[in-house]
Amino acid sequence: AAADKGGWSSFMAKEVAEQPDAVANTLRGRIVGDAVVVPELTAFGDEVLAGIRRIVIIACGTAAYAGMTAQYAIEKWARVPVTIELSHEFRYREPVITDDTLVISISQSGETMDTLMAVKYAREAGARVISICNTQGATIPRESDAVVYTHAGPEVAVASTKAFVAQITALYLFGLHLARVRGTLSAAEQAVQVGELTAVPAKIATVLESSASIAQLAHWMADTRSVLFLGRNVGFPIAMEGALKLKELAYIHAEGFAAGELKHGPIALIEPGQPVFVVVPSPRGSASLHPKVVSNIQEIRARGARVIAIAEQGDAAVLPFADEVVHIPLAAPLFEPLLAVIPLQIFAMELSIAKGLDVDQPRNLAKSVTVE
Ligand code: G6P
Repeated sequence: AAADKGGWSSFMAKEVAEQPDAVANTLRGRIVGDAVVVPELTAFGDEVLAGIRRIVIIACGTAAYAGMTAQYAIEKWARVPVTIELSHEFRYREPVITDDTLVISISQSGETMDTLMAVKYAREAGARVISICNTQGATIPRESDAVVYTHAGPEVAVASTKAFVAQITALYLFGLHLARVRGTLSAAEQAVQVGELTAVPAKIATVLESSASIAQLAHWMADTRSVLFLGRNVGFPIAMEGALKLKELAYIHAEGFAAGELKHGPIALIEPGQPVFVVVPSPRGSASLHPKVVSNIQEIRARGARVIAIAEQGDAAVLPFADEVVHIPLAAPLFEPLLAVIPLQIFAMELSIAKGLDVDQPRNLAKSVTVE
């Protein structure tokens, strides 16, 4: 019903707009002073968390890209090896699980059968399981040792948006909680990350102000048949998520690549007019990444690609080589995914609208896949 959409043209438009609240609500009650304390994790006891030797994240679809993003942050902050696996691949390859393995499942619905079966498998093998879930009382949380709920509110559109940013937020809270317990971040470093986290909602609101220009770009590109996405480091999962959104919503061929992999194959795909979104890392981040991605942009531009750069405000280096630039506010590198994904969601939604498709209920997809 139109009323449920709160005046928005679609649930997805509403849910995209709700992302500042999705992040703010997920943070609420989990920051104490300048440190992260997630009450749901205290059930484990600090000795248990301190004794973890390995983390395996399991999820499907968009939730898996949230996991891939968080891998960078959790390893950096808590110094524990993290791997991320698709739930349906994990269970069938006899993974090595020991009792010092922590498994984190991520599921918006909490009902995805592939992830549920992987959770059961992991627990039977002796792992502890924490679930990140957006649906109170769902099946996966009931099968887990602990649950950290995302508080994005009900997500109705099939393609996930606000749940994704809430999942990354919850995983970052987990990473900072773990780092505090393990003593791998100083109080001052922890405070800096907390400051970054609490600044995210307002920054997402700023990115949402670019909606009209991204919509215009999508409408210009309505007959595009293929779009590529490049990203590096935490921008890599965002490139994959941008491609997934476009497949789901606009039914066009889209692929995300790690920018460093370009020269190992994907550059052969570049021909004149090929649209390529590039998630550009901050020039203030790791010294070597920004110039490398700028040179990737030059390489594809020289072969005729049409480059749409998602770049930090004030990043002048990309301007000469990009056909379009969408600016995002300044944030520490690990927090850029929460901003850079927004224009990609809007682009996919608007391309779907431009093609006259059903943005809330794309063909062949279900919001929650309850069969294996
Ligand atoms: C389905 C949906 C995707 C979603 C995936 C995982 O395939 O169409 O949008 O990302 O399931 O869903 P979950 O509820 O486990 O996060």
